[in-house]
Amino acid sequence: MLYSEKVMDHFQHPRNLGKMDDADGIGEVGNAKCGDIMKMYIKVNDGIITDVKFNTFGCGSAIATSSMATEMIKGKPISEALELSNKAVVEALDGLPAHKIHCSVLAEEAVKAAVKDYYDRNGIAYDPEKLCNGDCACCHEHDHV
Ligand code: FES
Repeated sequence: MLYSEKVMDHFQHPRNLGKMDDADGIGEVGNAKCGDIMKMYIKVNDGIITDVKFNTFGCGSAIATSSMATEMIKGKPISEALELSNKAVVEALDGLPAHKIHCSVLAEEAVKAAVKDYYDRNGIAYDPEKLCNGDCACCHEHDHV
């Protein structure tokens, strides 16, 4: 079986799929490899991510990884969301085929872009190293795989 049961489950029943009208942060990123896009919305209260939604024109693996990523950051401090790596999401899904790993990068970058938007809106200082917004080659080529 190419895809794990968890991947199939999150693909067929995505958690937190949709739009958020009163989001505190919105991140939109594109995948350099396939051109797919992802939008992530977060609601933040006292530094805690109280709600998350995502929307994507990505493939099934992108849907499954974003669904899992939203579950992993919901209810967590925003600083923990920044630590979320695509690797951790892939592990939580019991793996992805190698040629689909780049799809999981989309989810990680969208979370970071949403956090960056939240920080920018609120004038909160941050370490840009932790918030690469996907414009740099490092996101796509190196340590994420
Ligand atoms: Fe584009 Fe998966 S093929 S996100």
